[in-house]
Amino acid sequence: MASVDLLVKGLRVGIQGKEILRGIDLSLRRGEIHALLGPNGSGKSTLAYVLMGHPAYEVVAGEIRLFGEDIRGLDPDERARRGLFLAFQYPAEVPGVALSNFLRTALSAIREQPLPPLQFYKTLHQRLESLGMDPGFADRAVNEGFSGGEKKRSEILQMSLLQPKIAILDEIDSGLDIDALRVVANEVRRMADEGVGILVITHYQRILEYLKPDLAHVMIQGRIVRSGGPDLVRELEAAGYDAFRTEAVEAVA
Ligand SMILES: Nc1ncnc2c1ncn2[C@@H]1O[C@H](COP(=O)(O)OP(=O)(O)OP(=O)(O)O)[C@@H](O)[C@H]1O
Ligand SMILES: [Mg+2]
Repeated sequence: MASVDLLVKGLRVGIQGKEILRGIDLSLRRGEIHALLGPNGSGKSTLAYVLMGHPAYEVVAGEIRLFGEDIRGLDPDERARRGLFLAFQYPAEVPGVALSNFLRTALSAIREQPLPPLQFYKTLHQRLESLGMDPGFADRAVNEGFSGGEKKRSEILQMSLLQPKIAILDEIDSGLDIDALRVVANEVRRMADEGVGILVITHYQRILEYLKPDLAHVMIQGRIVRSGGPDLVRELEAAGYDAFRTEAVEAVA
């Protein structure tokens, strides 16, 4: 069996004394797509932030291993250099910084060497084109005045330039129109086929129809209560979370 590239074991996380993640296990390999579903407030974004190293959250117990190495003590930059990427549910605005400059700085930081401008702009424009984005988009300040869908596309643009090994995509499909969803999903699928391991957090079956994840996980109140294939996603879409909530309560009892 191939080794696990992102391993999460018994992860418990709190913030301001409140426990939010209550024992998470996850094994993701490069080239796989896993979906993470769950009701609002169940802890999905918290997991994404903790994996990326957000300092506000306290890891109370458990392990996070990236390519076999414990990364709990590493800051977000170092995690990014090791190939981890997070597309935010709510991407932040960075007034006064052009998207193109932001991306070039991020890319140079990850490669630990400056990137020749010509080479960078050529790649940037190729990527913009394949994502159906206007070339002028990269001259605008990061996320400032971007529509909801444009913010999501700019996260995907970032991912496709940075070429991570493991990517966590937090609600990358929310707010996208039908055509944009297809473009974004195809890009995510392409990256997985090239060997990126992907954890996609979503509320909707639609993106999963394009992505065909290897495994789906249902999180309720800080626990993964069930993992499974396409049948699980269909069951969820048809019946909602009620049955899973009951399972969660029984698991605690
Ligand atoms: N900084 C914080 N301070 C206090 N509570 C927090 C903080 N961050 C997260 N929480 C709480 O942790 C719980 C999980 O939040 P989280 O954002 O991880 O949920 P989610 O599953 O991503 O939900 P959604 O589907 O709405 O995005 C929520 O009850 C939230 O209010
Ligand atoms: Mg969330």
